[in-house]
Amino acid sequence: MTVHFIGAGPGAPDLLTLRGRDIIAACPVCLYAGSLVPEEILAHCPAGARIVNTASMDLHAIIAECRAAEAAGQDVARLHSGDLSVWSAMGEQMRRLRAEGIAVSVTPGVPSFAAAAAALGAELTLPGLAQSVVLTRTPGRASAMPEGETLANFAATGATLAIHLSIGNLDRVITDLTPFYGAGCPVAVVYRASWPDERIIRATLGTLVDAMDDGISRTALILVGPALAGEGFAESCLYATDYDRRYRPQSADSPWSSWSHGDD
Ligand SMILES: C[S@@+](CC[C@H](N)C(=O)[O-])C[C@H]1O[C@@H](n2cnc3c(N)ncnc32)[C@H](O)[C@@H]1O
Repeated sequence: MTVHFIGAGPGAPDLLTLRGRDIIAACPVCLYAGSLVPEEILAHCPAGARIVNTASMDLHAIIAECRAAEAAGQDVARLHSGDLSVWSAMGEQMRRLRAEGIAVSVTPGVPSFAAAAAALGAELTLPGLAQSVVLTRTPGRASAMPEGETLANFAATGATLAIHLSIGNLDRVITDLTPFYGAGCPVAVVYRASWPDERIIRATLGTLVDAMDDGISRTALILVGPALAGEGFAESCLYATDYDRRYRPQSADSPWSSWSHGDD
């Protein structure tokens, strides 16, 4: 018996991986984080499956569900939104399951920052503008930030920031970032990326407050950084005509000319 953690993706039901779909279809028990996992994904559960929305349950109750499934010899599909590597609460569940000797597996999902970038049609790492993306958040009622993980510290790098769980702290985000990026820095807020009611607001740090839509109070990402402009960047060497590289040696003298896949 195994508890299979599965990233259910950002919202659109067809942004679930094939592996995730197949595991869900093979599990007689499905626990899903109801607030952000779309109901359509539950259609992959087998007929008669026990399907439990864990939105109102505490950790103890969730582990009790897994324990009961283990006693019955039934695999569990445990669905969380987006990918499991960020803000999924998978870590605390895994720790308890492992302590009880219950096997676990992890299937990744499409994270919301990637869905937001897709909605914008944006590459977040443009040559010369940004080569790093920081996935971060601001402190919340239930979550303090470790010392050092401040917006100011991340902003000092000039990287593209993907700020989660923070739409309610928008004023603070703008105040903290403006000294580093400047009021003219492009910003995008993407609400419910990939859902039917997705909304996009493009602005600058200086204009964002006025551009905001009152209806957006949760499930939104704030993306900040010069790469959001989508212009003013250099082309990468990767596709440059004269760039000497493994898959396109430019001469017989190239160090890549004698390379074969067996060397990798
Ligand atoms: C509890 S975290 C879950 C993150 C998730 N594990 C992931 O991979 O993106 C919830 C936050 O992720 C962001 N988020 C999740 N789904 C989103 C979506 N479809 N569009 C925009 N932001 C989303 C929002 O910032 C939201 O407050």
